[in-house]
Amino acid sequence: MDKPVYSVLIVSVLMALVVVVAAFTDEDDGGVHWAVLVAGSNTYSNYRHQADICHAYHIISKNGIPDERIIVMMYDDIAYNPLNPYPGNIINEPNGTNVYPGVPKDYTKHEVLPEVFLNLLTGNETEVERIIGRKGKVLKSGPKDRVFINFADHGGPGSLAFPTELLYMDDFHNAILEMFQKKMYKEMVFYVEACESGSMFFNFTQMRHINVFATTAANPDESSFGCYYDEKRQTLLGDVYSVNWMQDSDQENLGQETLAQQYKLVKSETTESHVMEYGDLRISKKPVGDFQGSMDSKPKSLYFTPSSSAPDPMLDAVRSEHAEQEILLRKISQTAGLEREQHIAELDKLWQVNKTKIAEGSVGNSRSLI
Ligand SMILES: *[C@@H]1O[C@H](CO)[C@@H](O)[C@H](O)[C@H]1NC(C)=O
Ligand SMILES: *[C@@H]1O[C@H](CO)[C@@H](O)[C@H](O)[C@H]1NC(C)=O
Ligand SMILES: *[C@@H]1O[C@H](CO)[C@@H](O)[C@H](O)[C@H]1NC(C)=O
Ligand SMILES: *[C@@H]1O[C@H](CO)[C@@H](O)[C@H](O)[C@H]1NC(C)=O
Repeated sequence: MDKPVYSVLIVSVLMALVVVVAAFTDEDDGGVHWAVLVAGSNTYSNYRHQADICHAYHIISKNGIPDERIIVMMYDDIAYNPLNPYPGNIINEPNGTNVYPGVPKDYTKHEVLPEVFLNLLTGNETEVERIIGRKGKVLKSGPKDRVFINFADHGGPGSLAFPTELLYMDDFHNAILEMFQKKMYKEMVFYVEACESGSMFFNFTQMRHINVFATTAANPDESSFGCYYDEKRQTLLGDVYSVNWMQDSDQENLGQETLAQQYKLVKSETTESHVMEYGDLRISKKPVGDFQGSMDSKPKSLYFTPSSSAPDPMLDAVRSEHAEQEILLRKISQTAGLEREQHIAELDKLWQVNKTKIAEGSVGNSRSLI
């Protein structure tokens, strides 16, 4: 071979090497997926939040995130609640598949606390053990990993509700900043269903360097919406924003659809509240599967079959702050005799509580959690 041919060859080999190295150092640089799923409420009238979270578990599990890297917080008082006519069964849409089986119970009952959540985010095992009196699963993610966090519950301005306590914005932001400093993620995405959920992220857009992208069910000043009242179960099965993103994830090729595309679709379908996006919008150009799972392990739960014909959740959307009242009004219209009397008494009690709250100023001024 003469010289020019040699140099062409060398240049091509070098270029090929550059391409190979780039492929390994950019996207698939050995990072893995982690997820934290939190249902922040308890009691049967809040059935929908735990239903949302169980459904979310099946989506990410089906997309190959192994249980060792998924942390679930849910009170776990729904499946076997005396008010649930189908013991062991939780559905998230009318005639839906049972989403309860297989869901890990990492933190249940009194362990579903903001303090536990904050410490599991920052990977503080000792502190979690101190709080709950046993060892618990915490995030052990590293600088190459992607973290997906989904929360479903009530919220208020600058706070998210847990069953017995509130998570406040400052503590939440500090935990995220600590994770960033400890290099616990390459990119992190939040999906948050709660009233006034935008208030938890409003200043993340100025904080692009921390590599966080968030979408929320509502802007900082409004309610989010529950949906799918089920006559047999006498409760709402889901929340509009949650159901919308999950029904999309159930059907899409998550390696192709981007977070921005999912956000746009969910925003257009969720017409009663303003679905918002915050943080580093460049992250939203990435595929949904970068966060909800892209088969880095063999999926565990194949028995979950998403329904393809779920009705539009907007058809019976219920303002989250009115959910309890709406559930009771529907029960009253569907029952008779003593049972009906009992529901009327419950409604009366609910209104009484609200009157007290208004008198105390916790409704109206700072607003009750909705
Ligand atoms: C649920 O299934 C029942 C019985 O098969 C059917 O009558 C009903 O229309 C279904 N509801 C929805 C919302 O698909
Ligand atoms: C865990 O949390 C406790 C209490 O906030 C703190 O004192 C401790 O330094 C933390 N440990 C680590 C490893 O961050
Ligand atoms: C966002 O703003 C709130 C209230 O002004 C502040 O307490 C919080 O630390 C800010 N968060 C970030 C990440 O800058
Ligand atoms: C409670 O009071 C608030 C504020 O007046 C109102 O918007 C809400 O509908 C009331 N809820 C119930 C259950 O009466």
